[in-house]
Amino acid sequence: MGICLLRISYLIGNLQSLSIQLFHKDYWIIIQSLPHDSHPIGSLASAMSVLSLFHPDANPSLNGLDIYKSTQVRDKQNFSILGQAPTIAAAAFLKTAGKPPVLPLSNLSYAENLLYMMESMENKSYKPNPRLSQVLDIIFILHAEHEMNCSTAAARHLASSGVDVSTAITGAVGAIGGPLHGGATKTFPQMLLEIGTVENIPEFIEEQRTLSGFGQRIYKNYDPRARVVKRLAEEVFSIAGKDPLFEVAVALEKTALSDEYFVKRKLYPNVDFYCGLVYRAMGVPPHFTAVARMAGVLAHWRESLDDPDTKIMRPQQVKIDSLTDQ
Ligand SMILES: CC(C)(COP(=O)(O)OP(=O)(O)OC[C@H]1O[C@@H](n2cnc3c(N)ncnc32)[C@H](O)[C@@H]1OP(=O)(O)O)[C@@H](O)C(=O)NCCC(=O)NCCS
Repeated sequence: MGICLLRISYLIGNLQSLSIQLFHKDYWIIIQSLPHDSHPIGSLASAMSVLSLFHPDANPSLNGLDIYKSTQVRDKQNFSILGQAPTIAAAAFLKTAGKPPVLPLSNLSYAENLLYMMESMENKSYKPNPRLSQVLDIIFILHAEHEMNCSTAAARHLASSGVDVSTAITGAVGAIGGPLHGGATKTFPQMLLEIGTVENIPEFIEEQRTLSGFGQRIYKNYDPRARVVKRLAEEVFSIAGKDPLFEVAVALEKTALSDEYFVKRKLYPNVDFYCGLVYRAMGVPPHFTAVARMAGVLAHWRESLDDPDTKIMRPQQVKIDSLTDQ
């Protein structure tokens, strides 16, 4: 894990210089040819898988496993994916909104560029709010690494077969979109909209029971990341305007935390609880969680290449013959 965190800080330290990565024009054509109403996470995953076709020279399936022994090749792949991910994610979203893609600017940071691409409408003098960019930076760092979560494990699993890094990342992007994982940044605000007002909370909890944005496999206490994002949410609202759903979220948290069902099972708000609202207030599409996780997943990929004990993953299965059991 130490190596992994070192890799992340190394990668994040280099992000600023990555913001401007120009695309092959055929790549834009591919993004533009995706269905207009595609789910942005599906578009991002599809676009990520296509990346591998633009880098055949760095594909172990074509050039042998030793290709990744070269630090130069690995760095190039890492930086290329990190640099292109926000542009692809923004382009995928802008396409669904019927807007043309916007290229990043070399004088903006990673987070600034994300906001610039989303908001500027190609006006090059547009400057994203500096504090909102900083908030996005913090959220990205909070999301970057969370050990062997579903998406990171998916990437490591795929990488263990020796596939190219873009294919491994495609698996991670696909996994993070699931509503039980990073997709909760989308389902949580949807659930709040369904609840509507604070008065409806007790009835909703009684009827639905399962709350999006609650519970975590590792944390059986308050997710420390959620605490940070809750504080950031208040600041974001003071800049971008208050979201009426925030009041519902705070009341929902209070009600659930004193409800016997949630107390008994040690269920607390997770990072996606307030993140969903912050993204909404900032106009950042929820699928950007996949971009936020990218540095950590890539760090895991590098770590797995350096680990002499890495083998192809092969989970054991216990098969129980129900007829024999009876
Ligand atoms: C994240 C999540 C998938 C973790 O699942 P998990 O580790 O398998 O959870 P557990 O099996 O330990 O759950 C234990 C109990 O709490 C319940 N539980 C877990 N999350 C719950 C939630 N969000 N709402 C209501 N009940 C929940 C389970 O039903 C189970 O109840 P039981 O003991 O009566 O069967 C799960 O909490 C969840 O679905 N949360 C909502 C989606 C979400 O916000 N995902 C983002 C995670 S960062």
